[in-house]
Amino acid sequence: MLQTRIGVSVLACGLSLAAGGAAAETPVERGDYLVNTIMACGNCHSPRDAEAKLIAGKALSGGLTFDTPAFLATAPNITPDVETGIGSWSDEEIRHALIEGIRPNHGKLAGVPLAAIMPANFKALLPDDLAAVIAYLRSVTVRLSPPPTSPRIPLRSSAPGATPRSAGPSPSASRATVMP
Ligand code: HEC
Repeated sequence: MLQTRIGVSVLACGLSLAAGGAAAETPVERGDYLVNTIMACGNCHSPRDAEAKLIAGKALSGGLTFDTPAFLATAPNITPDVETGIGSWSDEEIRHALIEGIRPNHGKLAGVPLAAIMPANFKALLPDDLAAVIAYLRSVTVRLSPPPTSPRIPLRSSAPGATPRSAGPSPSASRATVMP
C-alpha cells in the first residue's frame, strides 16, 4: 500500500514537471522540436555540403532532388524568403499544403498538387502542433546568397574574339537520385 502511494506521488510529480515544461515552451520552440526531430523536414529540405553535413545558416533553404519515373521534384526553399521560399504564402496556405498536399492558388505552379514524395499527410497533427510548425517555419533566418563563382579556367581572355565561358559543375552534378 505504501509502495503504491509512493509510486502514485512520483508519477504525479513527473506529470506536473512535464506540464510545467510544456507551458514554458513557445510555439516557435515547439515547432523547432517537431521540424528538426520527429518530422525531419530538413532531411529533404536542407542543403548539405560535399560531406553530407548540414550547412550553417542555410537550413530549410532547399535540398534533395528526386528523379523518379513519376516526377522530378526538388524539395524547395521553405524559409520565409519571399523570392525563393514560401514567404508569400499565408499560414492557411501552408496548412493546406501540409494537410492536403496542394499549392496555393498563386505563384509558380499555382494549385498544382505537390509530388507524392512530400509527406503531406499531417492531418493527424494536433492543430496547435501544426500552428507551431508554421510559426517555426516563419521564424527561420534565411541568408541566401548566389552560389560563389569558382573559376577553373580563365573566364576572360584578352585574345580578340574570345567568349567568356561559365565554369563549375552543372547543377545536376549535385543531385541525389532516389529510386521509388
Ligand atoms: C521525403 C522528403 C521530404 C520531407 C521529409 C519533407 N518534404 Fe516538403 N517537399 C518535398 C519535396 C520533394 C517537395 C516538392 C514537391 C513538388 O515540387 O511537387 C516538397 C514541398 C514542400 C512544400 C511546398 C513548397 C513549395 O514552394 O511548393 C512545403 C511547404 C513543404 N514541403 C514543407 C515541408 C515540411 C514543413 C516538412 C516537415 C514537416 C516537409 N516538407 C518534409 C520533400 C520532403
